[in-house]
Amino acid sequence: MYKITRVEHLVDKDWLMDVEAPYVARKAEPGQFMIAKLGELGERIPLTIADYDREKGTITIVFQVIGASTEKFSHLKVGDYFTDIVGPLGRPSELVEMTKEELEKENIIFIAGGVGAAPVYPQVKWLHERGIEADVILGARNKDLLIMEEDLRKVAKNVYVTTDDGSYGDKGVVTDVLKRLVNEEGKKYTRCIAIGPVIMMKFAALTTKELGIPTIVSMNPIMIDGTGMCGACRLVVGDQVKFACVDGPEFDGHLVDFNLAMKRQLTYKTEEGQALLELLE
Ligand code: FES
Repeated sequence: MYKITRVEHLVDKDWLMDVEAPYVARKAEPGQFMIAKLGELGERIPLTIADYDREKGTITIVFQVIGASTEKFSHLKVGDYFTDIVGPLGRPSELVEMTKEELEKENIIFIAGGVGAAPVYPQVKWLHERGIEADVILGARNKDLLIMEEDLRKVAKNVYVTTDDGSYGDKGVVTDVLKRLVNEEGKKYTRCIAIGPVIMMKFAALTTKELGIPTIVSMNPIMIDGTGMCGACRLVVGDQVKFACVDGPEFDGHLVDFNLAMKRQLTYKTEEGQALLELLE
């Protein structure tokens, strides 16, 4: 059993929790995720590890209510328990494998869309702790849906905020900001890491391809076992089938078949939506 020690309602459907999970906290690296389960027969839900405190043995998770299980998660209080937490899962960000010298040669831009700010944060923080400062473009549909801006400002070189409706920051989408930074302000980025809704990652990758910036995206498809056995999380990357849970979640954004990923996500949404309706009835 894994005790919840902090619950914060971030915005709208986004929640943040700290959970006692010493093993995961000790092993987690930026880019990895975990699976949480509530109740013996609960659904296994993959969640971003937004932060970890190795000394306290806690991990910070951020999730969005998108279906019945995450709706149940959002009713948990401090002192409640998750039945199971499995992780850390997936491969760490490739930044973790790089030497300090290699990192110092990089000029990295992160693009975080909506709840994608949660997996972006530990990577930017990890770099900051090693003296490497990265830029971040933080986007959301409107001001009320922006998360982790203050956290990111503490660890990033620059945070450029953009909202679709212009209620905060620039009006427009994340790719507008990226184009402006590169084409008008002359920024030269060696690498882009884009995490957010699949549609955002698709357009971010199209833009960075035009701009010639190598790009990593983090895919979060439906997962069941999280260990490469069930095939639920399969994606097409280049001419290969990959499993997000063991081969990812990060992939070359210029090779991911985003349209196929979106089609599979829609099927999932229908089932999740149905389960949510049943729960709320
Ligand atoms: Fe089953 Fe990835 S979740 S193979």
